[in-house]
Amino acid sequence: MTFTITTPLYYVNDRPHLGSTYTTLAADTLARFQRLLGKQVNFITGVDEHGQKIERTANQNKISPLEHCDYISATYIDLWKEWNISHDKFVRTTSSSHKQFVKKFFERVVSSGDIYMGNQQGWYCVGCEEFKDVSKDNNDPICDIHKKPLEWRDEENLFFRLSKYQEQIELLINSKDFIQPKARQNEVSNFVLSGLKDFSISRVNISWGIEVPGHKGHTFYVWFDALLGYISALYDTSNLDSISELNIDGWPASIHIIGKDILRFHAVYWPAMLLSAGLPLPKKVFGHGFLTREGQKMGKSLGNILDPKVLIDQYNAEAVRWYLLRDFQFGQDGDFQHKRFVDLVNNDLANTIGNLLNRTSTMARKWFNNSVPDVNRESIVNHQFSAEVKEYVSKYLSSMEELRFDKSCQYILSLATSANVYLNENAPWKKIKEPDSISIVAVDLYVVLESVRIVGYLLAPLLPKLSQSIKSQLAINDLDSNFVESLRWGILVPGTILPIPEPIIEKIDVQK
Ligand code: MSP
Repeated sequence: MTFTITTPLYYVNDRPHLGSTYTTLAADTLARFQRLLGKQVNFITGVDEHGQKIERTANQNKISPLEHCDYISATYIDLWKEWNISHDKFVRTTSSSHKQFVKKFFERVVSSGDIYMGNQQGWYCVGCEEFKDVSKDNNDPICDIHKKPLEWRDEENLFFRLSKYQEQIELLINSKDFIQPKARQNEVSNFVLSGLKDFSISRVNISWGIEVPGHKGHTFYVWFDALLGYISALYDTSNLDSISELNIDGWPASIHIIGKDILRFHAVYWPAMLLSAGLPLPKKVFGHGFLTREGQKMGKSLGNILDPKVLIDQYNAEAVRWYLLRDFQFGQDGDFQHKRFVDLVNNDLANTIGNLLNRTSTMARKWFNNSVPDVNRESIVNHQFSAEVKEYVSKYLSSMEELRFDKSCQYILSLATSANVYLNENAPWKKIKEPDSISIVAVDLYVVLESVRIVGYLLAPLLPKLSQSIKSQLAINDLDSNFVESLRWGILVPGTILPIPEPIIEKIDVQK
């Protein structure tokens, strides 16, 4: 019943951007969902603080690398709070427990005979912290991703025998569920089939890293160090002695959520390192797509970076969460369009869900003593609307399991839209004027309020605060409730006193 979920550990060379926020938001949604299903969740996120890129940034800013890391790490922690991210662990690769774990892990890999000293020559991208597959004869090559010149390196490094794990890695990446979405499997498969080459796991002349035991002047390659954060996070930091034994509660990870750019590290290098150390492999690696803005790649040179802090300061966190989860198929690339963001928040949240709750609650308060109408149970349990709701709920649950948050949002919206149609067709504001109509109006209003209650529960992992506001408007106190049980039709308690309705979300004013 343990579910361990990770985001990448983000480089602290710069402030958080929308890309890292998007990954973390998706992981948060999944973590919340799994908790609601009753699982013990370890939701791990954090920062990757070593390496040349960070050392250089700190130098440019004329502060020590650690001061720089402290500052940016704190920015991440603050931002995650504002975005309602519910992580259980925040790893910093500069922590002493992490360093101790890296050394311990290295000893295991050495005893497997997988480390040797060799010469590393090649073109290196500091932005990617990666050697590139570019010929020596190429003059002045440029990194495809960072558009910056590659740097020539020729040094003695420690190597990891990746080639030894060729067969095991082939089997792993071809296994059914390991790489998700399925479409990304091919790209990794082509890389593996071209033959795995050993890779260097130490650097010389880079002091901002973890020292390699027994090899003076060598620090660990930042990727070797950072991947281990997924496990060092699981140790009890108050008891560093526990690291002497590699019995790890919460490992293997159920899923690593990452961007498509770093799939190779997670689906190939990382499993091989774990095989070498004799540790279990993660069950799934999910590589999501990239976000662009109004059709363009976001970047400093274009000056079009969307700062997640500014977004959250300008708009409600729930509004931005909704747009990112509802409009982008997780796994595919997506384009952030401001007009669409405003339209969806106003139409879906403020109109379709918010107004529905508001007007129904107002009618119930007016005609039924400020409370949920008293109805005959039979008329609710056998109501024609219940089958439709059941169907949406079941589709919602399976799409949440598949990380298709866009579909889950669509099912929530379909349910709210059907309830709106039901209300308009039955027009209780007209019926109430007819004699002896009170019990029919009671059923109509109950059906709509019950649908909104279920919408409120379905929103819980996606928009936790909005979900809470809906529950408060329906006077639901659900501290001990069972999530799946709460999605059952017909459990809103008749007679519950309803508070004076308030808008659950403010509409975005386009003029502003
Ligand atoms: N430090 C490494 C990861 C080590 S994990 C042990 C790293 N860090 S990073 O800061 O560059 O973060 C990369 C992640 O940010 C990507 O995998 C992806 O999740 C996310 N994104 C970066 N730009 C992005 C977009 N434009 N759109 C969506 N996500 C992207 O790599």
